[in-house]
Amino acid sequence: MIIRLLSLFIILNLIVPAYPCNRDCMQLTEEALSQSAYQLSNLYNQISLIPDRLPYTINEKGKLVTINAKNWTSGFFPGSLWYLYEYSGKEEMKKAALEMTERIREQEHMTTNHDIGFMIFCSFGNALRLTGNKEFEKVIVTAARSLSTRFSKQLGVIKSWDNDNWQYPVIIDNMMNLELLTQATKISGDSVFYHIAVSHADTTMKYHFRADGSSYHLVSYDTINGGYVERKTYQGLHDESAWARGQAWGLYGYVMMYRETKKQAYLDQAIKIANYIADHKNLPEDKIPYWDFNVPDIPNALRDASAGAVMASALVELSTFTNNKLSVKFYSLGKQMVNALASPAYMAKKGENGYFILKHSVAFMAKNREVNVPLNYADYYFLEALTRIRKIEAKKRVFNQ
Ligand code: GLY
Repeated sequence: MIIRLLSLFIILNLIVPAYPCNRDCMQLTEEALSQSAYQLSNLYNQISLIPDRLPYTINEKGKLVTINAKNWTSGFFPGSLWYLYEYSGKEEMKKAALEMTERIREQEHMTTNHDIGFMIFCSFGNALRLTGNKEFEKVIVTAARSLSTRFSKQLGVIKSWDNDNWQYPVIIDNMMNLELLTQATKISGDSVFYHIAVSHADTTMKYHFRADGSSYHLVSYDTINGGYVERKTYQGLHDESAWARGQAWGLYGYVMMYRETKKQAYLDQAIKIANYIADHKNLPEDKIPYWDFNVPDIPNALRDASAGAVMASALVELSTFTNNKLSVKFYSLGKQMVNALASPAYMAKKGENGYFILKHSVAFMAKNREVNVPLNYADYYFLEALTRIRKIEAKKRVFNQ
């Protein structure tokens, strides 16, 4: 028994080395999660009175802007409530999370774009993880089947959108939808979903990335000759720039795919992206990126807190997979981002910001849509990052006692 405990202690200390913390990490996460629970409970009280709607952001007058279940961001508010249930263990939070999750159930059949992974996995995926309710497994598998209809065997990728602007558009964001597929294989035993996810990740690795580890936002594939026709941006500054949230989606996607497959190539890709972000000359002092790494108006350019939150969550997880030196680098950077996001510069005071948690995100600069505002997905990934840090710190506490 003593030998088993001793070996577990050694293994955990190898995986989770003792990192320095700006201030006590547990206290930081506790305060941030407690304040977040206050904010989102109030947001829930408002949205529960508006049938079929979910919170998205606020407008210039500070009024709540809502969306319906079809919007790509519909799963984030239910998912945020699940993280707050995980933190608080409170039955009323679970009830709220369940109610919001049910608002988007119909999306399990959606086949008109790739976003079903964001929608169903952040909501029903967390519901399944925290309740173990088999009923939710069916939703995951049905949704994975819906997403799989968009996969081309010839090209090896899932098509992001159906429109006439591009021949076969795939955006880097699409990496985020793959966890729905890997989970569906675990649930159903049908390996087809897993193979689609791997094919999409492999093909994206081949065509979406530049030599420096940054990624194009959109690759339009050639349905006649194979390969790609063009590489463009949709939400970034220009085709050759590094749109911050795009880099965040890519990083998160390959960290997650390494966790799911243990393929070394995905870990190498994740490390390359993480180093691109960490070592970039335009990453500001507080580590929350400008909305695009190539914006000319630095230091006056706007930050994107949502990109910072996604990166932080991914970096914290990545730090548990890498060697000691890189683990310290990535965990420290993830924590620095979370520290900044949890500071008054980004985190709203209780009762402000329309009861969203974070300020200062940018959805779509070129169209002047949702610029410098709260966004439901910034809040979701911030809560995920806090939860991940908390788990690492809790393990360290147990084994450092
Ligand atoms: N997936 C859309 C976005 O990141 O804005």
